[in-house]
Amino acid sequence: MPAPRALVAVFSLFLWGAAGICSEAQTSSDASPEIHSFSVVTSAAALPNGLELRDGSLMMRVTALRDDVLRIRASRTGVLPEDASWAVLSAARAASVEVKQDSDARVVGFHTASLRVTVDRGTGVMKLFDIDGNLLRKDAEPMQFQGDRFRVAETMPIDEHYFGLGDKTGAFDHREAAFRMWNTDAYGWQESTDPLYKSIPFYVTYRAGVSLGVLMDNTWPSSFDFGKTLGDTVQYRAEGGPADIYILYGPSAKQVLKSYAWLTGPAPLPPLWTLGFQQSRYSYMTEARVLQVAERLRRDKIPADAIYLDIDYQEKNRPFTINEATFPDMPGMVKTLHGEGFHVVAITDLHIAYLARQTYAPFNSGVAGDQFVKNRDGSVYVGPVWPGPSVFPDFTRQQTRMWWGTLYKSFTQLGIDGFWNDMNEPSVFNALKTMPCSVVHRIDEPGFATRTATHCEIHNVYGMENSRATFDGQLALRPDVRPFVLTRATYAGGQRYAATWTGDDSATWNHLRLTTSMLKNLGLSGFSMVGADVGGYAGTPTAALLTKWIEIAAFQPIDRDHAEKGTGDHELWANGPAQEDIRRRFIETRYRLLPYLYTVIEDGTHTGLPLLRPLFLEFPNAAPDRHPLDVDLNTSGEFMVGPDLLVAAPAFADKAGDYDAALPTAGWYDFWTGKEVGKDRARVLAGGLQSETATGPVLPAVRVHRELATLPVFVRPGAMLPIEPLVQSTSERPVGPLTLRVFPGPNCSGHLYQDDGSSFAYQQGSFLRMSFTCEISADHRQINIHIGKHDGSYPAWWKQIALDINGLSGPPLSVSVEGHAAHYVYGVHSIKINVTDRGNGMDIVVRSAVR
Ligand code: NOJ
Repeated sequence: MPAPRALVAVFSLFLWGAAGICSEAQTSSDASPEIHSFSVVTSAAALPNGLELRDGSLMMRVTALRDDVLRIRASRTGVLPEDASWAVLSAARAASVEVKQDSDARVVGFHTASLRVTVDRGTGVMKLFDIDGNLLRKDAEPMQFQGDRFRVAETMPIDEHYFGLGDKTGAFDHREAAFRMWNTDAYGWQESTDPLYKSIPFYVTYRAGVSLGVLMDNTWPSSFDFGKTLGDTVQYRAEGGPADIYILYGPSAKQVLKSYAWLTGPAPLPPLWTLGFQQSRYSYMTEARVLQVAERLRRDKIPADAIYLDIDYQEKNRPFTINEATFPDMPGMVKTLHGEGFHVVAITDLHIAYLARQTYAPFNSGVAGDQFVKNRDGSVYVGPVWPGPSVFPDFTRQQTRMWWGTLYKSFTQLGIDGFWNDMNEPSVFNALKTMPCSVVHRIDEPGFATRTATHCEIHNVYGMENSRATFDGQLALRPDVRPFVLTRATYAGGQRYAATWTGDDSATWNHLRLTTSMLKNLGLSGFSMVGADVGGYAGTPTAALLTKWIEIAAFQPIDRDHAEKGTGDHELWANGPAQEDIRRRFIETRYRLLPYLYTVIEDGTHTGLPLLRPLFLEFPNAAPDRHPLDVDLNTSGEFMVGPDLLVAAPAFADKAGDYDAALPTAGWYDFWTGKEVGKDRARVLAGGLQSETATGPVLPAVRVHRELATLPVFVRPGAMLPIEPLVQSTSERPVGPLTLRVFPGPNCSGHLYQDDGSSFAYQQGSFLRMSFTCEISADHRQINIHIGKHDGSYPAWWKQIALDINGLSGPPLSVSVEGHAAHYVYGVHSIKINVTDRGNGMDIVVRSAVR
């Protein structure tokens, strides 16, 4: 049956014009694409783990991988494509649970222990319920196919919110916005720019405390529209490739992220130094300049762990070369930097200079091994990038990735510690800004049929496979060292190989503001190690902007100061000693917090939870009407660092005047002073500022006096934060006690993870884990603190633990450690006690009124 005209219009409205981005490359498009809707169930076959349904030649298979994870695969031709994926682990795809068939005269369906699926026999509409019968998701229209394209449309409840999709900019909530997936070098991007550098076709819903995750595992150009085109409909579609969709049921967003990590793999444990402060610029032009910057960082006592070498260290921008005129002694420079506690990260772009008949090994060995992508006629594709005419490795081939890994040999021998994969959308300096879709990749990869693929299919996954080749190459060259790769482009699952950043941002207050929501959404897309160019890449920040940015970034996972060529200095000292002092203080705070930050990062390798989190992830039910707090305009500058710290940056950091920082629950503490805060309450309105007359949820709040030199940070009641003495880099072993800051409150606990920070010895038990609890007696007159024993064989650097217990109403009556009276120092509402930590665990009892 031909599709109604209106339907055709709606279908094409959201694609790239009539032909779409891949028109050139499409091989099997229908000449006159007709829309086929899965609109009636003509046959249904029960499977042990789900159902296979047909509507004529259309077929759909819905299976349960787990009780809370479903997979929907569909095809226009009645035959499913190969079951292969760059994103989803084969173990997850092979997972299966038995379901109970659950069909009647009206619907076919099944249920698992947590979900029920139904498909209406007469309309093809699919619904998903939790096991208690609450509707979780409903097709607005059945799935549609048009030539190689397909489209999914779901109803969009008025109170549902949408997050994730990688580095998309704009508002944190994707409601009423639409996005395309086509990795793009988006230099000069602004708030409305789309697409950007990454394609992570995974989003997380949140509706009154309940979350689902949806992954459309399709690398082709695709799009997501959250009610922008059709007011009450979420639509996602792809221009080709498999209709392969995973639905992850929470109900908590935390569980969704955990399941996503199960599906696509968790991020590995990064080296500790990558949590330190990182200094970069495009470019430190000479070896002398690099050493000078490093020396100044040390002289000015600005803790720092990494220095980046951008493209100008290379000979004529040719990857894997060194300009010996400007970097005459790279081995000596790296050695000196190591000696001063720095790690060195070098950029290694994927475009290999096209230098036929010259002695450029990456090109020659690449040609010899047939490693480069080709045009349709079999010639090697050549496109202009930094080095001029360049060729591009075919990272879809396992052997090409292995060859790529070997290119790092001399750099790793030099001791270069980390590698930066930039320009890997891939960026090409032509009108398309990338390779044409007609470029041919030759997939030769375990788990995939060996076949050719157009660049249209591979484009969005190309950057991820580049970072994978680098990561695996590092592991092959230095099996005992955890690799660090920073990538600009990536796809779902890319967290397995690399950290990422938000690309070429600008030195404006608006970009500082956008950073928070972008990093939150990246965290909800599987990426924990994320950051933005601190200070803004394009343009020169004012002193105030740079200072505020450094303050906020000190609490963000990757803290890298970076700047474009031709811009003013961005280093901390750039605007004189007064600004530098403020900035240094924040970096110092970050370093003191390293035990906490590293512990949260290590937790994330098991839980899939990011370091930088939206508030709703930790407090899904904070607002009385259960909307996610982060979508409120006046809390949009706030973010959580792990489960315990809330950074309450103002929504608009450049505005003057005091503001209310909202807290998700009562009883919080000021991180800087340890004092109780949040006794006032403020009205929090979705999309609006506070107003006297407005109605809306009221939350505990702190009136913040805005100052350039301060940033409000709050601590969850019940947190126990491990803090270390100040070091100038993570290469230094801290000297002095481990401080444990105790903030009494509900579920009072904390833990600590330590290891050597760089090797894999932790996998053989060389780690140190400790947990802590604190319990307030029912009459609020006593706190019992338990410090757990050391688990694992990694030795602690401390002998003493300095307990800093907050929240007391007055001086204690007594303090005992393991039953013996102990010395303490009373401050205002807090006491400090030093205890010797022999690693066996201990109990501390404080008899004092607790607030
Ligand atoms: C583009 C990157 O986004 C930027 O960070 C880098 O400095 C330049 N390329 C030069 O390598």
